[in-house]
Amino acid sequence: MNIQENISLKNHNTFGIDVKAKAFVEITGLAQLQKVLELKAFPKKFILSGGSNMLLTKDIDALVLYINLKGISVLEENDDEVVLKVMAGENWHDLVLWSLEQGYGGLENLSLIPGNVGTAPIQNIGAYGVELKDVFVSCTAMEIKTGELVAFDKEACKFGYRDSIFKNEAKDDHIITSVSLKLTKQNHRLNTGYGAIEDELKKNGIVYPTIQDISNAVIAIRQSKLPDPKEIGNSGSFFKNPIVSKKTYQKLKKENPYLPSYQMDDDQYKIPAGWLIEQCGFKGKRYGDAGVHEKQALVLVNHGSATGEELLKLAELIQTTVAQRFDIQISAEVNIIK
Ligand code: EPU
Repeated sequence: MNIQENISLKNHNTFGIDVKAKAFVEITGLAQLQKVLELKAFPKKFILSGGSNMLLTKDIDALVLYINLKGISVLEENDDEVVLKVMAGENWHDLVLWSLEQGYGGLENLSLIPGNVGTAPIQNIGAYGVELKDVFVSCTAMEIKTGELVAFDKEACKFGYRDSIFKNEAKDDHIITSVSLKLTKQNHRLNTGYGAIEDELKKNGIVYPTIQDISNAVIAIRQSKLPDPKEIGNSGSFFKNPIVSKKTYQKLKKENPYLPSYQMDDDQYKIPAGWLIEQCGFKGKRYGDAGVHEKQALVLVNHGSATGEELLKLAELIQTTVAQRFDIQISAEVNIIK
């Protein structure tokens, strides 16, 4: 087992923050993972996967376990559907592309989301009208204390908007090792209702889209407004869209007739945090190398050598400004490691 010491994590987080890990080990097998968890020399462990949803603000005084478990297998299959078991270290977008090549439907709206398969359930990744929970069957996780493998079905995961049991009761005590997903082989359930997808398909003259057409549309939309982490450090949406009461929504709408919103039920409205942040004048702003993306105010970016602390300071400034102006608290979607 190759444990490296004093290693930079710059290439292991999509914000490109240059902090150091006290020790670092790449995990490629389940038996190895069990052994590493038993290591007494490093009582503190830190779990890292694609590093696409975290802001590192200081050196990690622990053994970093880089989860790089690979493999895709078919668990069940009939004429209509297939259930796949995908290991946690598979890259999410590569899985989407592979499933499209096989002709499997269900992941097309989730194209181009950064990160790995094992972290997808933690925040119930979602985009363009689809969330992971719509295709999720179960996941397997190793309990950090005991090294035992435990299965979580969909109900046990308690999925919500960018939320699951792994952000709450089960936070920091399990490592997801694989995820099972149910995809369609025919009669795909297409989700084209999201405005931007409709517009993109229309622009390309597509009336009867295939799953591949939808994936292409999502990729085009994402590339037009979300920065590529390979070019500029970022973690996608930094904040969650706040959910407000009907009363708050009506008051806001009266003051801001162009307020975009999404009605969730009789009394709940989702307000795009990107709009609130843009209204406060932050879109495209830059404080040293920490900035707000010029095309999508929900995304914080590292223009080069911003520190995690600088990005955190900017995030806090945005939160207080939005709270002062709109009386709405926006909370971080990314995991802030303090
Ligand atoms: N808006 C602005 N200014 C901005 C950004 C957005 O006014 O700077 C307005 C837009 O005009 C639109 C509304 O806000 O009316 C919604 O914008 P968009 O469709 O871009 O979606 P979002 O609510 O900002 C969410 C997800 C994204 C996901 C998109 C599409 C969250 C926190 N974010 O963003 O997810 O791709 O919807 O489904 O829910 C991610 O989680 O990393 C992510 C990128």
